[in-house]
Amino acid sequence: MIMKAIIPAGGLGTRFLPATKSLPKEMLPIFDKPAIQYIVEEGIKSGIKNFVVVTGRNKSVIEDHFDIHPELEAFLRTKNKSELMDGISKLVTNSNFIYVRQREPLGLGHAVWSAKHVIGNEHVAVFLPDDIIMGKTPTMAQLIQIALQEKCNVVAVQEVPMDEVSRYGIIGVRKQFSPNLFQVKELVEKPLMSEAPSNLAIVGRYVLSPKIFAVLDQQHLGAGGEIQLTDAIQELLLSGEKVFAYKIQGERYDIGTPLGLLKANLDYALRHPRHAGVVLEYLKGLDKEFVVMQGKAEALNKPAKTLVL
Ligand code: G1P
Repeated sequence: MIMKAIIPAGGLGTRFLPATKSLPKEMLPIFDKPAIQYIVEEGIKSGIKNFVVVTGRNKSVIEDHFDIHPELEAFLRTKNKSELMDGISKLVTNSNFIYVRQREPLGLGHAVWSAKHVIGNEHVAVFLPDDIIMGKTPTMAQLIQIALQEKCNVVAVQEVPMDEVSRYGIIGVRKQFSPNLFQVKELVEKPLMSEAPSNLAIVGRYVLSPKIFAVLDQQHLGAGGEIQLTDAIQELLLSGEKVFAYKIQGERYDIGTPLGLLKANLDYALRHPRHAGVVLEYLKGLDKEFVVMQGKAEALNKPAKTLVL
């Protein structure tokens, strides 16, 4: 069993400024819940009970969110509205949260290393909270199953267009076992398009052996002048550990950017049993309005974009 997860949440959220100047990006909502709650829920559905959140300055509202709130609960009881807190209260009662401060922003590898002292000698799950994955089966549950079966490290991957490989960690494949399962030959963080071993990009889910911490103890700066988790996993591979990659099923959203968060919100709303109908009607209305605007734009002989803006 894998019981602990690390959630690196110390990033400054620069891709989402000014919204993230004082609000952690992990707390931006997808429909009615903060993004990080989706991550924790995926963890719980995958059997994880203990969450080690690596934070930094300005992140204390994450701790407040995963805590009891007696006044609010008492108030809701008097109004017969306790159900509004049912989900989060149950989650808080049944899970443990540990907070570790990342002392310097030295990269993802360094953030994971910061949790070393609370993990111990066991395999650990790592969730990057920028990557929200919506699908039928929780991605982490799939990774854990592979890790237990194959006694290996596992990273989640998805295919990306070749001209985007330099934004990701990219894997090279040693062997393909099924359409979605690969044994990894190498991992390269943010390669040039001409040097990428494939277009299979690492997305934010990992199951790692405890040896990763010893490797990170020695890790040097990599791509972007940061200590990279990808480089440490490559070291694990070279030391003889097996690394597998699982191609995710379902949709992934990079919610660290305004457009990614908007897409996640729309898709979530369109899957919502109670609200999907209203949202769809609204979007259809927008579509008509857009067509009308385009018509007007053509009539005025101006580019449509000018009028839509
Ligand atoms: C991190 C990882 C990278 C991975 C990406 C997925 O990069 O270093 O290997 O592909 O997350 O979101 P970052 O987005 O933090 O630059």
